[in-house]
Amino acid sequence: MKPITTLLDERISAAIAAVTGETSPAMIIPAKNPQFGDYQANGVMAAAKKAKTNPRELAQKIVDALEIDDICQQPEIAGPGFINLRLKDNFIAERLLTVNADADRLGIDTTESPKTVVIDYSAPNIAKQMHVGHLRSTIIGDCISRMVEFQGHNVIRQNHIGDWGTQFGMLIALLKEQYPHIIENPAAVEIADLEGFYQAAKAKSDSDETFAKTARDEVVKLHNHDADTMAVWKHIVDESRKHYQPIYEQLSVTLKTDHERGESFYADKLADVVNELKDKGIATESDGAMCVFPAGFQNKEGNPLPFIVQKSDGAFLYATTDMAALRFRIHDLNADKVIYVTDARQAMHFSMLFESAKMAGWISNVDLMHVTFGTMLGDDGKPFKTRTGGTIKLSDLLAEAVERATSVVEEKNPDLTDEQKAEIAKAVGIGAVKYADYSNNRNSDYIFSFDKMLAMEGNTAPYMQYAYARIKSIERKAAGKDVDISGELAGIDSLTFTEEAEKDLAKMLIRYDQAIFGAAEECRPNYLTSYLYDLAQAFSRFYNACPVLKADETQRPVRLLLCDLTARTIKHGLTKLLGINVVEQM
Ligand code: ARG
Repeated sequence: MKPITTLLDERISAAIAAVTGETSPAMIIPAKNPQFGDYQANGVMAAAKKAKTNPRELAQKIVDALEIDDICQQPEIAGPGFINLRLKDNFIAERLLTVNADADRLGIDTTESPKTVVIDYSAPNIAKQMHVGHLRSTIIGDCISRMVEFQGHNVIRQNHIGDWGTQFGMLIALLKEQYPHIIENPAAVEIADLEGFYQAAKAKSDSDETFAKTARDEVVKLHNHDADTMAVWKHIVDESRKHYQPIYEQLSVTLKTDHERGESFYADKLADVVNELKDKGIATESDGAMCVFPAGFQNKEGNPLPFIVQKSDGAFLYATTDMAALRFRIHDLNADKVIYVTDARQAMHFSMLFESAKMAGWISNVDLMHVTFGTMLGDDGKPFKTRTGGTIKLSDLLAEAVERATSVVEEKNPDLTDEQKAEIAKAVGIGAVKYADYSNNRNSDYIFSFDKMLAMEGNTAPYMQYAYARIKSIERKAAGKDVDISGELAGIDSLTFTEEAEKDLAKMLIRYDQAIFGAAEECRPNYLTSYLYDLAQAFSRFYNACPVLKADETQRPVRLLLCDLTARTIKHGLTKLLGINVVEQM
């Protein structure tokens, strides 16, 4: 089924074309104020400008030419030439029935033009524990993957882990020098130790030039695939994976080990990439280094900015690996679109990467997108750190979220069994951390606050989870009152609304497709959380205004349907698209 805005757009654009003889977009948006209807067409002003005519008069002609009475009531013209549209009751009712009849997809079609979309997200740096900085890329990227996949595209997840960097040189040098037993038996290394090793190695490397030199030599050995060095390296990578994979599972993140294609995968392709760039005359030597000078990038002095792909000592860089990865994704994975999810500090790197790839002639039919996000801040408004200024480990943070959620559950419903409490606390705690992140505009920095994200009021996970559980409790009560919900729902073949609140909720329910579409196109999970929050609030207003189980026999089936479909929509949004669990009671 086409989204309503698409239907309206088609009709109004056709009328604009018929009247002006020119194509001009109708620009349909949901009305800001319900007083003026449900949707509004904003395109008339631009069309009038093009046709050099008075916009209000043009709006009138368009309305006269418009064939839309199967969808809307008589359109109204407002202000300088807006067209206000109000859906007809029977259109709403029919649409609601179609959505309702589709158990899996709630009436939402898959795309007619499926694309191969590579999504690069999470990408922790190996040999260190994952910290809060990786949380955002991991969960935002995962939501995007889920949404784009739901639209029917072929999503290829890529976890571009940092497994080939200079950190390994320091680490291996330190292990060789101070922990020879680990070199003999790499299985003895554990991630918990690794973090400490890494800190120690970094400190030593900063203060001890001989050690720093040994560390650099180890990087060279690694990059030359020296057997002993490789054995230690491989163990470190395997050990790290054992640490981050359970975190993905805990977060309901869909990344699996076979989505991993780390920097090391591209190691043997780097020289070739640089050669290709040289051959094409795109990479040139500058101060001994091989550089691409992507068009439009300048430093403060106005000189062209280099995108360095090989240093004067022959070493390759982060940029080279990204060039190789992009070429691989386009040529080998057949990407039509590549989405990168990293923090905003890498914006320059990716713009230069995209421009360089364009110069190399790789991306004529490929869409590249860098999805950026801001910083997670502590109460003090500074980047989120432990009290002592250390980085916060993701596993500790999630454990604390679940622990705090346990108290919330305890307070709300002390009579549940311990097992139920534990299940709810897990869903609420992890859900709260994810939802708080999703519900912010991803480009903004935000203050990480357990109190705020665990609040039962406001646009939070527990509020949404409670909205779902509340509907489920209505359904449980129905059984006790001899109301046969599935029987009544099965008997519905047409609907009439008697209360405005019923209709308002119905109108929200038939807009879910639009919310997903907007969120997926712009890679903005907050569009989806806003929709879900609006839906939950529309449900609240409906439930306050309209008795359900006590309603008389003619009204009850419609109301039961509205309850059931609201629960299904919330559940779909939370579990399928945001990866947040729901619980049947709270
Ligand atoms: N490992 C990198 C970091 O932590 C992120 C990698 C993002 N992906 C990429 N293709 N560069 O900063």
